[in-house]
Amino acid sequence: MGINIQKNILLSVHTTLQVGGVADGFVPVKTKAELKEVCQLANETDVPMYVLGGGSNILFPQAGFRGLVVKIDIDGIEYRSGGETMRLRVGAGVVWDDLVADTVAKGYWGLENLSAIPGTVGATPIQNVGAYGVEVSDLIHSVRCVHKKTLEEKVFSNTDCNFGYRDSYFKSLPGRDWIVTEVCFTLSTVKQPTLSYADLAHLDQQSDLTPQLIRDEVINIRSQKFPDWSTVGTAGSFFKNPVISAEQYAVLKKDWPDVPGYQTKEEMYKVSLGWILDKALHLKGFCQNNVCLYQEQALVLVNHGADSDTVSAFYTQIQTIVKEKIHIQIEPEVQIVKNV
Ligand code: EPU
Repeated sequence: MGINIQKNILLSVHTTLQVGGVADGFVPVKTKAELKEVCQLANETDVPMYVLGGGSNILFPQAGFRGLVVKIDIDGIEYRSGGETMRLRVGAGVVWDDLVADTVAKGYWGLENLSAIPGTVGATPIQNVGAYGVEVSDLIHSVRCVHKKTLEEKVFSNTDCNFGYRDSYFKSLPGRDWIVTEVCFTLSTVKQPTLSYADLAHLDQQSDLTPQLIRDEVINIRSQKFPDWSTVGTAGSFFKNPVISAEQYAVLKKDWPDVPGYQTKEEMYKVSLGWILDKALHLKGFCQNNVCLYQEQALVLVNHGADSDTVSAFYTQIQTIVKEKIHIQIEPEVQIVKNV
């Protein structure tokens, strides 16, 4: 088949926020060989490359992208049984929720709490996607990558990935040169529910619990908190929950005794920005120029037809308000793309 570079492609149709100008080039790749071919071409012609998964966690600029956007379409799910564990190798281009649905239907435990999250498999280790008490790093065995400059292939172990809250080695400067082609997961064939998150705790009483039951409940909860991706522009949580020191947390608690916060392994506190935006700042449902904080979940930004610059102005304004009123610097969870 070979690669097919499309010229002057509008990025807004490839992102769930539905914003972004024109990319000089856009190329879907279905195999590792095609990916290497594209990397080589970009290296030889000195063209910047941006690797796109599902486009569900990204804000492209209004000016578009001066370079080549590479869409990873590498397919395939391969199960390898091993007693109480189930090891599987999955192509980076597989739609994340298709994978979750497949593993849940087969009765394997592990991914059910991560149901109904948009995007592709290859993006999940980069961001260390998490929801309802589970992070994908809990299930990842290893990540196979191609280096975009040297075309070297490497398998990163879970430890090599250096996972943190919405963070990994792949977000670091050297890590950004690696393109994920395949992710290997370890799931469980024996019952192993995670019900630590308040929204799921009630399922503890259920004796005949299955991964499917948890998935159904997660989908139910999410449908109440998140807008419909097919009708409105959104990228889920727009900001990260801030992680602050014990001292900062104590100060915050003085003003806002009810603010939810969770101690992290590093003796820091992760606080619920959704709660702060809603209960402390009354910004839930706040709209400007067709961009809003969602009326059911203030951490979620929704775009009703604004362009990228307008979305950027809106989120910067929210950052400023939080900084001025709560004295915390908040950061986007969404990847902000800038032209180099
Ligand atoms: N809250 C409010 N008002 C709001 C929103 C939240 O009071 O408008 C309160 C909730 O009642 C709860 C707390 O804040 O006590 C936390 O809210 P929630 O359980 O909805 O989770 P979150 O911290 O806002 C995180 C992830 C989501 C993930 C959910 C569920 C981040 C940045 N976001 O949101 O992930 O689905 O937990 O586990 O960590 C994403 O990353 O895009 C994403 C959607």
